[in-house]
Amino acid sequence: MNMPKTTSEQTVLQSRTVERLITGVATSDGAGVKLTRVLTQDLQQRLDPFLMLDAFGSDKPDEYIAGFPDHPHRGFETITYMLAGRMLHRDSAGHEGLLESGGVQWMTAGQGVIHSEIPQQEEGVMEGFQLWLNLPGRDKMKPPWYRDFKAGDLPKFITTQGARVTVIAGQSHGTTGAVTRDVTEALYLDLHLPSGTSFDQALPTGHHAFVYVYRGEVSISGKAVPPQRMAILANDAHADGVVLEASTDAKLLLISGKPLRAPIVQYGPFVMNTQEEIRQAFSDYRDGRLGER
Ligand code: CO
Repeated sequence: MNMPKTTSEQTVLQSRTVERLITGVATSDGAGVKLTRVLTQDLQQRLDPFLMLDAFGSDKPDEYIAGFPDHPHRGFETITYMLAGRMLHRDSAGHEGLLESGGVQWMTAGQGVIHSEIPQQEEGVMEGFQLWLNLPGRDKMKPPWYRDFKAGDLPKFITTQGARVTVIAGQSHGTTGAVTRDVTEALYLDLHLPSGTSFDQALPTGHHAFVYVYRGEVSISGKAVPPQRMAILANDAHADGVVLEASTDAKLLLISGKPLRAPIVQYGPFVMNTQEEIRQAFSDYRDGRLGER
């Protein structure tokens, strides 16, 4: 008798339900990069500790070519996941890295960085995501940190049903992600589910969680989540995780974390706990103290 691998065991007894489906907002950022803001500012409390999710994807160079020239950040982490394309990162802490298809760049802005993200291609598809993860108040002024991971460096596993899982952060079915975070306990999975398969992920009841389907369609507790939609998962008291069922070949992100439950004060690229800290960030930036080495 063939015993199933642990990766295929159904461990979730009761799946969360979908609380709300969200259609992103088309916008542009940086020097005119067209993108869809999926997690907008009005959802920051609901999805605490996550502050923003942008999806970008275009095969028209004029929609991405100018990239994101020098700009500051303070008080949180940015996680860029590149599905296709090449982007060069440089920052005031002295980090430089080429982000290529399938790679992840994780940057903790902490007390402050000034950085640029510039496409290294004149044609072809540029597609990916940028997620903003908040920092607990005590870590907002810590020194910046940076890592980049090539596609081959990211922990991955395949379930016996054939689901392909990339563990960018956190833990899934015994596989530890490229990055782990003690306070926010962030989980960030990229899931490729063949049609007719399902995937389950344990989630602590209090953690906020959402999925973003970027290809195909999945269903969660009987509710269809179409492509280019974010589903906010309800914090159902009796649910011990989420079960995702692919009705077509589907690709999606599953993201969750432990809420910080602290005041969120955002002004543009700065996210702090108080207005006074925001004023400080502006004056530090103006006076050249933000991101100085
Ligand atoms: Co940036």
